[in-house]
Amino acid sequence: MQMEVNLSSSHSNIYIERGILHHIREKIDGNCKVMVITDEGVPAQYSEIVCRQFPNSTLYVTVQGEKAKSFEVYEAIIRKLLELNFTRKDMILALGGGVIGDLSGFVAATFKRGMRFASIPTTTLSQIDSSIGGKVAINVDELKNMVGTFYHPEAVFIDIDTCKTLSARHVSNGLVEAVKAGLIGDEKLFELFETENIEDHLEEIITHSLMVKKKVVEEDEKETHLRKILNFGHTIGHAIESYYHLHDYYHGECVAMGMMAVLENKELKERLRHILEKMQVPVSAPYDPESLLKLIQKDKKVSDDHITLVLVEKCGQAELKEVSMDTIRQYLKGEAL
Ligand SMILES: NC(=O)c1ccc[n+]([C@@H]2O[C@H](COP(=O)([O-])OP(=O)(O)OC[C@H]3O[C@@H](n4cnc5c(N)ncnc54)[C@H](O)[C@@H]3O)[C@@H](O)[C@H]2O)c1
Ligand SMILES: [Zn+2]
Repeated sequence: MQMEVNLSSSHSNIYIERGILHHIREKIDGNCKVMVITDEGVPAQYSEIVCRQFPNSTLYVTVQGEKAKSFEVYEAIIRKLLELNFTRKDMILALGGGVIGDLSGFVAATFKRGMRFASIPTTTLSQIDSSIGGKVAINVDELKNMVGTFYHPEAVFIDIDTCKTLSARHVSNGLVEAVKAGLIGDEKLFELFETENIEDHLEEIITHSLMVKKKVVEEDEKETHLRKILNFGHTIGHAIESYYHLHDYYHGECVAMGMMAVLENKELKERLRHILEKMQVPVSAPYDPESLLKLIQKDKKVSDDHITLVLVEKCGQAELKEVSMDTIRQYLKGEAL
């Protein structure tokens, strides 16, 4: 399966195919220096398969986790690229989860004002949520994605077989973003989670989620309006993530709780609960609603006591609505344990 994402100043080819990891060189011009960036948690067999295809490649292995999205790691990679005389015509190949994609993309976007960039996402979250959209960034201490830009990879290679080495919890974590894609833009995708064996339909799930994201991003490249619908469940989700200091729950798990909190349609909410339980994703966590409210106010810099929230009343259709902090309080109280 191949998909194209066309934006004002860029064009990306997305390949979704089992085993494509072995055939990357056939799909991309590799007559240049290539730096393959990965982290210690990504099984070494994958970088061996990729590097073998590019004789002029250098492998850069960084620490795993959010720490990799730091100024220190960024600087070390930039210095390595300089030492190896990389130019704008040379390429960065990101091999790993969303952390590696964000870090590598930011390096590629800024080194000599932008060099070639392609990515091989290896977690369900990165395959579903970061392959399209071009958001690249690093963190400043605990503040996530504080320094970044938009930079689109020329090609994305999604090999679902790489997910076989992921823990079941990580697989489900990423799939929450696909459930979200169904809720905001594709009812059939949502239904697929209800009726089918999820593992057996991974390729279809990822493809359809990317279609939802592609449509939205092509219409609103820089997130001025429509693209905000991709943040369904994220306002409360991010607050839960911060409440637990980015530690106890994964991002997708918090988004799941965030979606549950704001869904008003009771029938749809029960359908979502059923799917999340099937995926063994938590539907709620203990929290103090007032503390969460403060985190949301801080995050969104609320000035007039209102924020724009993504709401879903009917499966497959999202809308942006101005809601008061009091409404948010009600949502939080409804789901607080
Ligand atoms: N740019 C975007 O649009 C976008 C969207 C969503 C999330 N993100 C970012 O993505 C990051 C989270 O991504 P993530 O959930 O992929 O986490 P991650 O990149 O930290 O990967 C999770 C863990 O899995 C390991 N791993 C990766 N691939 C593996 C594989 N195939 N088998 C076994 N282990 C593997 C990694 O080493 C890591 O320890 C966050 O920093 C988030 O901000 C970015
Ligand atoms: Zn998300």
